[in-house]
Amino acid sequence: MLTQTQTKAKGLADLPSVVNDSLLALIALANADPRPDKIDVGVGVFRDAAGNTPILKVIKEAEQRLVDTQVTKAYLGSAGDKRFAELLRPILLGHHASDDRIAGLQTPGGCGALRLGFELIATANPTARVFLGTPSWPNHAPIIQSVRLGIEEYPYYERGQGIIRFEDMIAALGRGEAGDVALLHGCCHNPTGADLSEDQWREVVRVVSERGLLPLIDIAYQGFGRGLDEDAFGVRLMLDACDEVIIAQSCDKNFSVYRDRVGSLWVKTGSTSATATAMAHVHQRAREMWSMPPDHGAAAVHIVLEDSELRARWLVELTAMRDRINAVRQRIAAADSRLAFIGRQFGMFSMLPLSKEQVLKLRHDEAIYMADSGRFNVVGLSDDQIDRFTAAVVGALEA
Ligand SMILES: Cc1ncc(COP(=O)(O)O)c(C=O)c1O
Repeated sequence: MLTQTQTKAKGLADLPSVVNDSLLALIALANADPRPDKIDVGVGVFRDAAGNTPILKVIKEAEQRLVDTQVTKAYLGSAGDKRFAELLRPILLGHHASDDRIAGLQTPGGCGALRLGFELIATANPTARVFLGTPSWPNHAPIIQSVRLGIEEYPYYERGQGIIRFEDMIAALGRGEAGDVALLHGCCHNPTGADLSEDQWREVVRVVSERGLLPLIDIAYQGFGRGLDEDAFGVRLMLDACDEVIIAQSCDKNFSVYRDRVGSLWVKTGSTSATATAMAHVHQRAREMWSMPPDHGAAAVHIVLEDSELRARWLVELTAMRDRINAVRQRIAAADSRLAFIGRQFGMFSMLPLSKEQVLKLRHDEAIYMADSGRFNVVGLSDDQIDRFTAAVVGALEA
């Protein structure tokens, strides 16, 4: 029986407030701005020269085939579409594709893969610390915290000079202990665009294997930097050197199926039996969280990769996206020597050496929306916005 001295059970009304995801909040702010010439370089989607994010032609065709030929929507199981993962395997793993100590499964996008990968790590070693570069994609830390793993930040990028703080990074990783996790971006670093060179990857792989760290490589933009194989260089080098590797992969950008949530998680251990045990845990966690991943997007990607003609045309469309990213980078870099670093980077993002006040002023005065950190999406710009954008940024740098 309740007495007045007993404390009242907490209810939903007692929930603390939540700090909104900064990037989602920025999208809402940009959408609400009525100025017709506004520029939204906050959102993380590819845009073409006209400023649109079209559905790839090969995906449209695959979706039509799916509508015409799919005969059931019965459950598939926690692995999702197994053939989708098999088709993706050589694209991601290259010469490691035949290694039967590596297993993968479909996930709801790269976020699902990251969450599942960290769930596995937390199950195996709840005291592991995750070495996370700063800055990193803003959703990394919340995902790591959601499985209650500790975070050790390491310096990754020098914003003023537009370069990687490589010595600091290596020194920090060198302080990791066996079982700690090194979270690395496979390519097209988000938010900085500053990718490790091949020599730098060799050095990172050396430290990771010497210290006995568990590498988790997040590869969300394969094909957006230099090419499909080139962008997987770090993934494959790590697999050459380490018995235990986790890879969180996304198809949402390189197939342009963002909202359909298409990704995969890959786990390598030192033996096929240890991998089978790890994957049994992975399936159990997936079952608890989402039971099985959404089918539609992965089914369309499956059709594209299975059909040699559609696959060849996907590569053409992917190359066109990559070429546009790199062409816009070169145009911005050519506008002012202080922006030259943008031409040496890869993927959709770069970080401008602007203070938060300067970013807010650009938002207020010029209707240019970028993250408070100065991160902007290079291909958030349509062709006819590039000159106004660079002029405004150069003006802000001079102010
Ligand atoms: C570095 C990085 N990892 C993972 C993701 C998640 O991708 P997805 O939309 O497939 O969940 C993103 C998306 O922005 C990203 O930038």
